Amino acid sequence: MPRTKLVQINEDAIDEALIEEAGELIRSGGLVAFPTETVYGLGGNALDAAASGRIYAAKGRPSDNPLIIHIAERSALDAIVRDVPERAVRLADAYWPGPLTMIFFARDNVPRETTGGLSTVAVRYPSNKIANALIRAAGGYVAAPSANASGRPSPTTAAHVAEDLDGRIEMIIDGGAVEIGLESTIVDFTVEPPTVLRPGYIGREAISQVIGEVVVDPATQGDHMEAAPKAPGMKYKHYAPRADLTIIAGGSESVSARIRAYAEAAKREGKRVGILCAEETKGAYPQGEVIAIGTRGDEESIARSLYAALRRFDELETDCIFSESFDTPRLGEAIMNRLRKAAGGRIEYI
Ligand code: TXA
Ligand code: MG
Repeated sequence: MPRTKLVQINEDAIDEALIEEAGELIRSGGLVAFPTETVYGLGGNALDAAASGRIYAAKGRPSDNPLIIHIAERSALDAIVRDVPERAVRLADAYWPGPLTMIFFARDNVPRETTGGLSTVAVRYPSNKIANALIRAAGGYVAAPSANASGRPSPTTAAHVAEDLDGRIEMIIDGGAVEIGLESTIVDFTVEPPTVLRPGYIGREAISQVIGEVVVDPATQGDHMEAAPKAPGMKYKHYAPRADLTIIAGGSESVSARIRAYAEAAKREGKRVGILCAEETKGAYPQGEVIAIGTRGDEESIARSLYAALRRFDELETDCIFSESFDTPRLGEAIMNRLRKAAGGRIEYI
């Protein structure tokens, strides 16, 4: 087991010597966790089958669940994918670097270990400057899933990464809390029409304004995980706190009343109760471990703190969690996709 070195890098004054050291670790087959604008990633050399194997092992992740290759310049794309449709070029013009992942047919130099055995490959050009510097120092192609242990919420701070992966990887770069807090939007360009496999910060409307018709994989919207999702990783129980989570959706006052009633009943059974709500309503819950994750007027604040809240409920050893619903206008699709999964589909409409 490697000893994990923890280093701090400031995105506005990047320490080139540390980046060089981290890049060398990846070039020689090691694993380095690093910040991106979405969540922290666990990076290894994407063109090295053994490194991808180590990523799966460190996370405890099934090896049929493909990795995203991270690049730090547009021209790097052509060496790993066969064909970039014109609409994908336009979407890249609009959103790269940024929280967008696109799927293309892979060239033969991409190891099947990296793509989970698929003939397609997911590629992202992140905007975080530490990520960019690291990818360049590592040779240009960094496979990076979210840097959590498989099944746990994605990490939005270096401390979350250390909780899950300390002693299992060579280095963690602490670049502070991430900006967005939800994983990138994934758009599959190997099918017609292009299909959103995972909703994210860049919504369907925004994509459609750039490329016209786009559909969303219906499996990302269900309450249950009945339909097989097209992104293999979306089928696994995911983003999950250890407690049973139930979402209550409906008018604000009846939701609060229902959550209060459930919380009271659970408490009488001797359970430790968690409540996940918005700032606006936190006063409505007199008992339980209440975590307010941001304000409904600022949906980005909700996206940013969702995963940290789910981890916090684990630390508090809650047995059950009752959550308000967060169907906010722009990010609601992505937030609720993650929250429904954390709830294993348990959602009650009142
Ligand atoms: O924001 C993000 O995308 C973060 C940061 C670190 O960049 N990364 C991330 O990676 O979320 P990961 O491995 O946790 O999630 C990747 C998702 C999985 O659901 C996986 O199944 C899907 O992308 N995926 C990867 N390659 C694919 C492919 N060729 N076809 C379909 N789905 C693919
Ligand atoms: Mg993940």
